[in-house]
Amino acid sequence: MSSLPERVDSREVGLVAGLNLLHFFLGTRDLHYGLWGDDLEVEVKNLPVAQKRYSEFLLGHVPDGVERVLDVGCGAGGVATELLARGFRVEGVSPSLLLSAAARRQAGNDFVIHEGRFEDVEFAADDRFDLVLFSESFQYIDLDCVLEYAKRRLNPGGYVLICDFFKIPATGRSIIGGGHPIEKFRAALEASGLEVLTDIDITAETAPNLDIVAQMERELFLPTAELVGYAFDRNHPWLSRLLRWKYRKKLRKIRRKYLSGERNGDNFARHKVYRLLLLRLPES
Ligand SMILES: C[S@@+](CC[C@H](N)C(=O)[O-])C[C@H]1O[C@@H](n2cnc3c(N)ncnc32)[C@H](O)[C@@H]1O
Repeated sequence: MSSLPERVDSREVGLVAGLNLLHFFLGTRDLHYGLWGDDLEVEVKNLPVAQKRYSEFLLGHVPDGVERVLDVGCGAGGVATELLARGFRVEGVSPSLLLSAAARRQAGNDFVIHEGRFEDVEFAADDRFDLVLFSESFQYIDLDCVLEYAKRRLNPGGYVLICDFFKIPATGRSIIGGGHPIEKFRAALEASGLEVLTDIDITAETAPNLDIVAQMERELFLPTAELVGYAFDRNHPWLSRLLRWKYRKKLRKIRRKYLSGERNGDNFARHKVYRLLLLRLPES
């Protein structure tokens, strides 16, 4: 059943804009972080390779015996396409019409997508999967219900695979948003009765993605913003002064968040932990 939100979430718009940019320049249609190592220089041109490594790493943790997968927050369908190519039966959940269209383009028109937020999508009670997957989508879903809803979709003995980052307690405010607080997640996990089979920290391998973001901000967004600002000041001085005053708070926030260079790998590792977790629903 379709249950799309009425308003377009600005984070969704950001994801689609990022996807278009990355696809245009690098040919990648993946929306998740890359997995970096000493053998791969942290440069934007290497991002598609790092993202492929992430997909391989993720799919390497799909347990034997799994046939039917629910890809929650399937994005532009990159991971689902890989799963389908390996013979899994895959369905997606997506609250974004824009991303669902991209996912169908990539995974094919037969790829079944349940349109809506995972919290709202209605499944038949006996519609169950062997694995519920959250690839960088877990953080977007209400922590109070996400594990319970995932359990409802599982066959007895089925699995939940989460690959995502969480907030860790740290002094100062993080300039990078997102992630459930890790201690709240641990409490929800404990209460869920799901068994933890695998729990791997991949913060060091994922933090370099933020160095790429910092590089793009420094070398692309900042000079472009300065150029546009300069031209606007010169050509429309009064209007420019008025708009700068009217939107001064917003502009200050944008400058701090996106143009200060503070969003980088060190900052990420100080405030977040990126983990892969494989969980199992007990048989009875
Ligand atoms: C960073 S993207 C990850 C996309 C994809 N899983 C991947 O690994 O490339 C986050 C995804 O979560 C989805 N999402 C956001 N809120 C959601 C919700 N409440 N329920 C289901 N999916 C959601 C977004 O539409 C998007 O597809």
